[in-house]
Amino acid sequence: MSTIEFQQVSRVFKRDGQDFLTLDQINLQVADKEFVAIVGPSGCGKTTCMRMVAGLEFPSSGSVKVAGQEVTRPGPERAVVFQQFALFPWKNVHENIAFGLRQRGTPAAEIERTVKHYIQLMNLVGYETAYPHQLSGGMQQRVAIARAYALEPQVLLMDEPFGALDAQTRVVMQEELVRLARKNPRTVLFITHAVEEAVYLADRVVIMTSRPGRVKEIIDVRAIREQERWDRHSTIEDVMDEASFVHLRTHIWKSLRQEHGDSDH
Ligand SMILES: Nc1ncnc2c1ncn2[C@@H]1O[C@H](COP(=O)(O)OP(=O)(O)OP(=O)(O)O)[C@@H](O)[C@H]1O
Ligand SMILES: [Mg+2]
Repeated sequence: MSTIEFQQVSRVFKRDGQDFLTLDQINLQVADKEFVAIVGPSGCGKTTCMRMVAGLEFPSSGSVKVAGQEVTRPGPERAVVFQQFALFPWKNVHENIAFGLRQRGTPAAEIERTVKHYIQLMNLVGYETAYPHQLSGGMQQRVAIARAYALEPQVLLMDEPFGALDAQTRVVMQEELVRLARKNPRTVLFITHAVEEAVYLADRVVIMTSRPGRVKEIIDVRAIREQERWDRHSTIEDVMDEASFVHLRTHIWKSLRQEHGDSDH
């Protein structure tokens, strides 16, 4: 059971010898195989939260647990996808996806099977031997997502993974992520600035306040999605026309706007 749990998590950073409270008593529980999106003003501490789950950053007080264990270091059961496609430029698509599995000592035949599977799922067939500089931004990000999924991590952490993509590619990636998430459900923490993306992808959306970041509101999108049967629609545009979707999006927008208004910079 790969749950994520923030218990009374606060984080203080030092700047110019002064303490700045960045995160203020964050409480959040992500259930096993739940997809939770976090939205919030720039600088409210979203990336810091994710880095704590990844084991790259630690709370000043409180605790972050994955599967009931306090996080003390990075681990292969938690994979991270960053905004900037962090591929190895000197390795081709196949080698990039296989890298983590090789490091882990997975048998060659199994690596082949897994890499092939995710190459197919992420629509990269025919590009196995291409190098990152020969791919579009969207394709590079598909490789990064395939690489994260290929490790079959229990927990996937994605920090604005589509932030650098153009609008059309972004929509394609969102639909592919939904497809992948249905086929291979994982516990996902997904940071985005795009409200529509959060509502479209997530089971629940967490809205954070401006600095110091607190949990302002948590919206259960799944209940509404199931009630309104958004799954009847195949494309994001169709879902976005639904009155219930528009209502949620507007609600989140207003909540975020308030935070921008209150911010001290
Ligand atoms: N290692 C660090 N040392 C000092 N300050 C830090 C450090 N990491 C983050 N901060 C500060 O903590 C605050 C939150 O940063 P964080 O990157 O978590 O925000 P964010 O919500 O992800 O913002 P954005 O939406 O712009 O990506 C910022 O004010 C940042 O300057
Ligand atoms: Mg960030």
